[in-house]
Amino acid sequence: MLLSAQQRVKSAFIALAAFLRREGFWWAVTLAALTPLFWLLWRAAIGNLGVDPVNTINNVTGRAAMIMLFLSLACTPLSTILGFHRALTARKSLGLIAFLYVSLHLLNFVGLDYGLNPELIVQDALLSKPYILAGGLAFLLLLPLAITSTRGWMRRLGKRWKQLHRLVYVAGALAVLHFLWQAKATERWEPAIYGALLILLLVVRIPRIRRSLAIRSPRPAKSAARTNRTWQPSE
Ligand code: HEM
Repeated sequence: MLLSAQQRVKSAFIALAAFLRREGFWWAVTLAALTPLFWLLWRAAIGNLGVDPVNTINNVTGRAAMIMLFLSLACTPLSTILGFHRALTARKSLGLIAFLYVSLHLLNFVGLDYGLNPELIVQDALLSKPYILAGGLAFLLLLPLAITSTRGWMRRLGKRWKQLHRLVYVAGALAVLHFLWQAKATERWEPAIYGALLILLLVVRIPRIRRSLAIRSPRPAKSAARTNRTWQPSE
């Protein structure tokens, strides 16, 4: 009886270890990517969003969106150049979480900042602050990418899926522009880093450069099949 209980505990551990080996990376990345959201919710729950809650939400969601978007873009070179193929399993999750933060960033802006007043949004924001226009365009580009991130849409769109998802780089460029435009002169270094990273990510996509930098073997067929849930092109 005792032995069978021990065996059950052992097989539960084996099953847990197998699960962590298979899905652990995905779960770790996904939970880490959601941490800014949990932190924001926790601070809202205890009424500690600072003297300007709208600004706090804006900062956290804007930065989190930026970081997750760039991490999702970095997954492909991590696989093709460094041979870290597991990164591809988290790419779609990171992309969708970036979109979640952008949506919260937008909702905070139109709802809490501008009180859902369409006239004010158009006159005071869209027509007089060009950085809002750049951010809005980035959001509009990310929207179809998030919608078509499912396997069903991948199948339906076929080759066009990859072409469509290349728009993520245009959205990234607009997001950098948005970030740069609204920053004070002394704070431009931060968006400038994202701009440089975007250029680097685009450069390492050039096949000749990618091949010359690659230090590890290409992704094996099995892992390629497992990562078909990715939401942006790998080539
Ligand atoms: C509908 C689209 C968007 C709107 C309306 C919007 C609005 C805003 C506003 C009002 C600010 C604050 C400017 C200030 O403090 O004067 C801001 C800052 C920022 N936004 Fe957006 N944004 C949009 C899209 C995006 C996107 C797509 C990203 C990134 C993927 C992004 C990332 C940021 C970042 C990083 C900041 C700087 C935060 C800070 O340091 O205060 N935004 N945005």
